[in-house]
Amino acid sequence: MTILVTGGAGYIGSHIVYELVDRGESVVVLDNLATGFRDAVAPAARLVVGDIGDMALVAKLLAEHQVQAIVHLAASSVVPESVANPLGYYSNNAAGSLALLKAAVQHGVKQFVFSSTAAVYGNPETALVKEDTVPRPMSPYGASKLMTEMMLKDAASASSLTYVVLRYFNVAGADPKLRTGQSTRAATHLIKAAVQAALGARDRLAIFGSDYPTPDGTCVRDYIHISDLVGAHVGALGYLRGGGANVLMNCGYGHGYSVREVVDAVKRVSGVDFAVEMQPRRAGDPAQIVADVQAIRRILSWTPAYDDLETIVRHALAWERKLVARKL
Ligand code: UD1
Repeated sequence: MTILVTGGAGYIGSHIVYELVDRGESVVVLDNLATGFRDAVAPAARLVVGDIGDMALVAKLLAEHQVQAIVHLAASSVVPESVANPLGYYSNNAAGSLALLKAAVQHGVKQFVFSSTAAVYGNPETALVKEDTVPRPMSPYGASKLMTEMMLKDAASASSLTYVVLRYFNVAGADPKLRTGQSTRAATHLIKAAVQAALGARDRLAIFGSDYPTPDGTCVRDYIHISDLVGAHVGALGYLRGGGANVLMNCGYGHGYSVREVVDAVKRVSGVDFAVEMQPRRAGDPAQIVADVQAIRRILSWTPAYDDLETIVRHALAWERKLVARKL
């Protein structure tokens, strides 16, 4: 009953792996370490270094470990980078997922949880975006994830594979026990960048665009604590194992904060008034995107435990302090 976690050495994947092994699950991680870290993988899990696009390797892994379930996170995930390198994103995210899915169907994998993104929606017209909103990705990143959703849906219709797609909103924070966190030095995430500025690891924080049609002119996002996102994955696996039908759900809190509000929260929590510089808009950024979360609350009975911006920032800051102490 092994679970394969692709991208399990990355920021989100490493948190999921810790939770699964804590629950007594047998876990194999497949990660090419392009952005992941070997030491982020929980010691009780087995790490295999390789690509999801390497079908022979994946087929071998699935057979050797009798994999029943896959949690698929391995992907490139930086919106502006995807605008600059679209084919790299289609290759890693869409073609890589195609190969993984082929191997999964051939092997008879039963459950598949896919890490998708709010970026599939583009710039929605409603305050809260529901899962049945017509997707209009604004970036190759969003498009590459939408393509994978489509492949997964069709593959499941033609096989015994069952799936949950989780469309993540803006994931932030760190494991409250600080076993893992966001370790990418040059990460582009707002909260990560802001806590780095607070600790002096960056000399200033850039705010990309202050002329958006939002209350304070900066972009609005729905920030979700990593531990609550992990809870959604555990819930999704339990749901599928219990015979749940294929489903696609948003993963956020249902309320948003502007970039300025996040910056203020980081200044408040850290007690550091770091320098902030206004810059032009960043390519591929929607003005506002906030999740409608009725579906996940109903279907998985999912109840967040960390729905508080200051808690998210406090945990991100604590992890960053740990990295600074380790000089990473
Ligand atoms: C993030 C995710 C993406 C997900 C999306 C869903 C990352 C790297 N990407 O993208 O996978 O699909 O949420 O909504 O986590 N900003 C600044 N200054 C900075 C950094 C960011 O002003 O130094 C602004 C951005 O312009 C944006 C907001 O902060 O308006 C959030 O940016 P970011 O944390 O990079 O996440 P998204 O691009 O929203």
